[in-house]
Amino acid sequence: MLSKTDRDYGTPARTSAKLVTLAIDGREVTVPEGSSVMRAAALAEAAIPRLCATDSLEPFGSCRLCLIEIEGRNGYPASCTTPVEAGMKVRTRSPMLERLRRGVMELYMSDHPADRTTCAGNGNCELHAMADAVGVGAVRYGWVGRNHLEAARDISNPYFAFDPARCIVCSRCVRACEEVQGTFALTIDGRGFNSVISPSQHQPFLESECVSCGACVQACPTDALVEKSMLERGLPQRSVTTTCGYCGVGCSFKAEVKGDEVVRMLPNRDGMPNHGHSCVKGRFAWGYATHPDRVLTPMVREKITDAWHSVSWDEAIGYAARRLREVQTRYGRGAIGGITSSRCTNEETYLVQKMVRAAFGNNNVDTCARVCHSPTGYGLKTTLGTSAGTQDFDSVLQADVILVIGCNPTDGHPVFASLMKRRLRQGAKLIVADPRAIDLVRTPHIEAAYHLQLLPGTNVALINAFAHVVLSEGLDNEDFVRERCEWPAYELWKKFILEERNSPEAAARATGVAAEEIRAAARLYATGGNAVIYYGLGVTEHSQGSTMVLGMANLAMATGNLGRSGVGVNPLRGQNNVQGSCDMGSFPHELTGYRHISDTTMRSSFEDAWKVRLDAEPGLRIPNMFDAALDGSFRGLYIQGEDIAQSDPNTHHVTAALSAMDCVIVHDIFFNETAKYAHAFLPGSSFLEKDGTFTNSERRISRVRKVMPPLAGKADWEVTCELSTAFGYPMHYAHPSEIMDEIARLTPTFAGVNYEKLDRLGSVQWPCNDKAPAGTPVMHVGTFARGKGRFVITEYIPTDERTGPRFPLVLTTGRILSQYNVGTQTRRTPNVVWHHEDLLEIHPHDAEQRGVKDGAWVKVSSRVGETTMRAHVTERVPPGVVYTTFHHQSSGTNIVTTENSDWATNCPEYKVTAVQVMPAGEASGPIAAGQGAPAHPAAGR
Ligand code: SF4
Ligand code: SF4
Ligand code: SF4
Ligand code: FES
Repeated sequence: MLSKTDRDYGTPARTSAKLVTLAIDGREVTVPEGSSVMRAAALAEAAIPRLCATDSLEPFGSCRLCLIEIEGRNGYPASCTTPVEAGMKVRTRSPMLERLRRGVMELYMSDHPADRTTCAGNGNCELHAMADAVGVGAVRYGWVGRNHLEAARDISNPYFAFDPARCIVCSRCVRACEEVQGTFALTIDGRGFNSVISPSQHQPFLESECVSCGACVQACPTDALVEKSMLERGLPQRSVTTTCGYCGVGCSFKAEVKGDEVVRMLPNRDGMPNHGHSCVKGRFAWGYATHPDRVLTPMVREKITDAWHSVSWDEAIGYAARRLREVQTRYGRGAIGGITSSRCTNEETYLVQKMVRAAFGNNNVDTCARVCHSPTGYGLKTTLGTSAGTQDFDSVLQADVILVIGCNPTDGHPVFASLMKRRLRQGAKLIVADPRAIDLVRTPHIEAAYHLQLLPGTNVALINAFAHVVLSEGLDNEDFVRERCEWPAYELWKKFILEERNSPEAAARATGVAAEEIRAAARLYATGGNAVIYYGLGVTEHSQGSTMVLGMANLAMATGNLGRSGVGVNPLRGQNNVQGSCDMGSFPHELTGYRHISDTTMRSSFEDAWKVRLDAEPGLRIPNMFDAALDGSFRGLYIQGEDIAQSDPNTHHVTAALSAMDCVIVHDIFFNETAKYAHAFLPGSSFLEKDGTFTNSERRISRVRKVMPPLAGKADWEVTCELSTAFGYPMHYAHPSEIMDEIARLTPTFAGVNYEKLDRLGSVQWPCNDKAPAGTPVMHVGTFARGKGRFVITEYIPTDERTGPRFPLVLTTGRILSQYNVGTQTRRTPNVVWHHEDLLEIHPHDAEQRGVKDGAWVKVSSRVGETTMRAHVTERVPPGVVYTTFHHQSSGTNIVTTENSDWATNCPEYKVTAVQVMPAGEASGPIAAGQGAPAHPAAGR
């Protein structure tokens, strides 16, 4: 259902360069060729009644309400399915048309509940609006004949209900599921009067293939498909445009609100990353924001074995500042640090790194991107000159070959996956390189041309072999390389790549993928037209994560697949603001815009602005902080919005480090695993409670707007300002827009960004400055950000983590659609109906050898720890590889992950752990390291 304020032109826009002029009710209008008469009429301000048409879907022509007259033609064609023609003269109103429309409408209304006040969407229902528009108040037929008014509702989905009594079988839901979402879960079953909407094979929604994206609910013109929250809470009173707080797609939503209570989140039709689409998390799973587990009162304690005391904000902030100061006085300036959050806004992240550098006086600041996409920053900056993806999402619609490596877009980045699937249905070719058969390999109407099922840890061997095929078969784009790249580096790289050790045959031995398959896939990438790479943590979270990013950039440069739409190298970022937290100077060696702290001129611009001397030496990375904590030199840590005890690898090591510190301050919305080791807990605010900006995977900066007041009284940026001030470095801002103005003054790539522009344009992609005042959708057009592109040698060095008799299987990890990260938010929503525990996927062969049955408990042990979870026996994983998600505290997957990390950035090697799997009697309990710490205090309401 549309928001009341949305304008709908009935059928989608066409982009033809050829324009057609016609007359609608005597008024001339010019539109691109291929447009419908309905759209032309809407543009000419002649609203034609309609029910089955909406401009987010292709026209279907089923409701017959949009009839028109065309001069010189017989009959009354449907305007939604009639294309414009030059010189056409259209009449949208006449006594005959009005009579016909009334007749059609009466038939609809005769099989629809009469009382419109029983509709959840009362006042916002297209059916009733159209009835009013065509002048149907009452129907002549009465309600005594056959109808569907007693049909049973389907309320199986936790978030929306389907009421067949209100369904007019317009098929908008079916088309939305196909065209927008690409899941094909719905059909119209039966014919004529017996036609009914059916999920999968007559299943309830919950048991069908439906992924709860909400596209059908969004498309439904009646209350047949409606959000349960609307039924429970009633009509919203106002709407606030904001950005999803979950993944790096960064979908735009209109939060519809009643009082201070969110009634529903409607995907914004003008939202550039999502164009009105959504996934189950952003659309429905926002209830965590008001979950009773929210901690709303600051708490402190002397030791982690003491009970917590609830205190006032002033006391908590004063206490935290004093204890951090004491640590510094005793152990030195470098003994404390901070961790910024990719869940928080750019402005909040900027303030935390500013507090560490300016107030704490060191550069001991890091962010969770350390453990996910730091290799992206390193690899893309070294080769291309920018620590970010090259394209906007829409660019995928120009791609001919899509290479997906180490990411699972339908689960991790679902709204972008829907766009990608649309392009694949149009005929683009797909190569998936993943140990596991992710959904994209085969979905309705899509089949990957190649699924390269490589062994975890062998990405670099594969990408080098791709390059070997390209170079040895003369498929490189030498003109591009000569013009755009450093030639001597290219020659060195070419010599290296052509060595036998990088051949497909050598790669086949390392990866387990047949040489011929590698050859064929590489040829397709190099010769299939516009070729684009999308990748995720299955690339970065390796001991050679940075090498692989360099390798992908090398391949794209060698084949000329950079610098225009439809090509490029694109990281899909996990959390909503991973890109932003990196942009904001959260790394210990870089200030905003990825400028090295040792750059004196740049650093002094910050010193002038912040009126303080800054340390020119890079600070500690997160793993260094842990090591230093264990050797006694690092003793105080402020952590904003991250649960490092659950999300960082080798849990025992992390918790030992946390236990060794004198002062740990956790600033979060829930009492998490890390808080068990804290001395002060500062209540955080959710994305619904603050103003600011997020930056998504396509470098797009979007506004986050306050939908309700902070439940604990303060937005996170206010807390950081107060903590810094209490520590002795005053920070005062009246509004986050002032923080962004400061960022823009100090950061060339953000120079043109301000809230007025974001409000006016909706969003902008950085760089946004004098050269690109409206932002930069596609990077490296004409020239690379670093000038000439640089090829880098990417030697394949197998990880130290080896399988052997004791640990013969390789464990790799990933995400599932309905849950998110360590589950902090999604586990507190009805999303748990889809996934309430982490499962270990194991191949039938490996399961049989171990006597493991589907659904039985298994013990997973590695060189560093062990945990238990239930097994799921499946051929999605190949023999020798097991897989699990890490959404649930109970399985504590990171107990078994090792401390191996990327050579360049220390990004942990989560994706490769040698393990043994054996049957276990029962679960052996959650994170053992947390034992002994005080339990969750009664959350402070
Ligand atoms: S459920 Fe809604 S969108 Fe689907 S056919 Fe019925 S009225 Fe149309
Ligand atoms: S919620 Fe999404 S996946 Fe489910 S039926 Fe509707 S459109 Fe299809
Ligand atoms: S795709 Fe990501 S940003 Fe979009 S609604 Fe889903 S979780 Fe939110
Ligand atoms: S809107 Fe054209 S036939 Fe339904």
